[in-house]
Amino acid sequence: MNRLKILFVAVASLALTVQSLESFGQTSKSGTQKTKTDRSIVTPVPVRPAGQKDMLAYAAPKIPLVRVGFIGLGMRGPGAVERWTHIPNTKIIAVADLRPERVEAAQKILDKNNVTRAAEYSGSEDAWKKLCERTDIDLVYIATDWKHHVPMALYAMQKGKHVAIEVPAAMNMKDIWDLINTSEKTRKHCMMLENCVYDFFELTTLNMAQKGLFGEVIHAEGAYIHQLSQFWDDYWNNWRLDYNKNFRGDIYPTHGIGPVCQALNIHRGDKMNYLVSVDTKSFNGRDEWKKMKGEDPGEFKNGDQTITMIKTQNGKTMQIQHNVMTPRPYSRMYQLTGTKGFANKYPSEGYAIGGDQLSADDVPNHEKLSAHSYVSKDVKEALMKKYKHPIHQELEETAKKVGGHGGMDFIMDYRLAYCLQNGLPLDMDVYDLAEWCSLAELSAVSLDNGSAPVSIPDFTRGAWNKIQGYKHAFVK
Ligand SMILES: NC(=O)c1ccc[n+]([C@@H]2O[C@H](COP(=O)([O-])OP(=O)(O)OC[C@H]3O[C@@H](n4cnc5c(N)ncnc54)[C@H](O)[C@@H]3O)[C@@H](O)[C@H]2O)c1
Repeated sequence: MNRLKILFVAVASLALTVQSLESFGQTSKSGTQKTKTDRSIVTPVPVRPAGQKDMLAYAAPKIPLVRVGFIGLGMRGPGAVERWTHIPNTKIIAVADLRPERVEAAQKILDKNNVTRAAEYSGSEDAWKKLCERTDIDLVYIATDWKHHVPMALYAMQKGKHVAIEVPAAMNMKDIWDLINTSEKTRKHCMMLENCVYDFFELTTLNMAQKGLFGEVIHAEGAYIHQLSQFWDDYWNNWRLDYNKNFRGDIYPTHGIGPVCQALNIHRGDKMNYLVSVDTKSFNGRDEWKKMKGEDPGEFKNGDQTITMIKTQNGKTMQIQHNVMTPRPYSRMYQLTGTKGFANKYPSEGYAIGGDQLSADDVPNHEKLSAHSYVSKDVKEALMKKYKHPIHQELEETAKKVGGHGGMDFIMDYRLAYCLQNGLPLDMDVYDLAEWCSLAELSAVSLDNGSAPVSIPDFTRGAWNKIQGYKHAFVK
């Protein structure tokens, strides 16, 4: 009797958490694919409050002079302050950090660039709120530790500011939905500062993909592989290693997934349906903790290596890796596999393209092309020149001078300012933020359930197919 009762409870609770995904009825250009056995754990999707609309292709009124306030001036924030001194038609109004010495360091950047010192806020946990309450700021730029991102962004939007948030903007589903709802309600942009989508190889390759050079892109890979052992000590209050100790899953997914989502037109004609994750146990993570704290961590949740696989609505696949613990050459992977060609960034950049994809006008010796190996250096250079993205054509020279991860950080900030100044939709919307950040909690849910498939919600709540194809906005 007791056994029967237990069985009943087990079946009932399974029914609560598992939903059949048969209704996804996946379709691709090349036909339909039935996935009868898809059964995924589903997380709650809040109903959109009445009267609230989506933010797809949202354009705010033009802001000819973009007035910005910065919160978080640790290792990352000051570089942003420096970059914004080089962006035309912008003004740095205020800077904030818990630590007064970090605020002073930012002011010195302004001095060095002959820019008027900004209003400053520091010295208490909530001093940043005063920055958000100012009436002369259009954009709040947040580069604090992960736990502070969301409360700061929510408050700033509620105070009528657009927000830009460092990566990952949000670490759990509740925070992600709060950001979406607040952005939709306040009609304020909520953009994640994912710089890697502007890197030279990635943006050039996106242009090639959009022009059909690889045929249809069917599989994509991304990663964040960067041993952080030499940096743990430098994070304020040990926030980053603490987070690794306390949370399982791919907790830094956005550099890897952002650029490949753009290539796969996610929520612009396709959507991520579900993921499955595996991880190693913690080997080096535990030791890093011991080294730093001089004590055993007890449980250290984040595995040294985490791998997540994703299936999309149009029958495509993705793989994303996270490893910040073991010695490996830095890699964000960035790999696209198409029906007619292939692109790969790490560890060696290259393209493999079927000969019939290129015309004689494209590249020298095109008839020698074969998709079995990378094209030659000459052909690669000719392709990269031909497909150089208009954003790079305009900004490459200045970006390389101003710097920030080889120029991509400047391009990101410049594009954000340009779109705000011209009343254009931003390059990344709140749903990109949501999709890319959702891997943090959803991968942990998969791991905690024996690598079970976990449904990735449609964060647009029904509008993922409204826009066809990813694009950047320009003044016509
Ligand atoms: N996109 C990239 O390439 C990239 C690179 C590095 C870091 N990041 C991101 O940038 C963010 C910051 O990272 P970091 O390396 O600068 O960390 P950090 O620890 O050096 O800086 C965090 C700062 O936040 C401040 N802070 C904490 N609580 C605050 C509060 N209540 N009010 C005001 N300030 C507060 C701290 O004093 C500190 O100066 C993180 O989200 C990180 O993931 C992104």
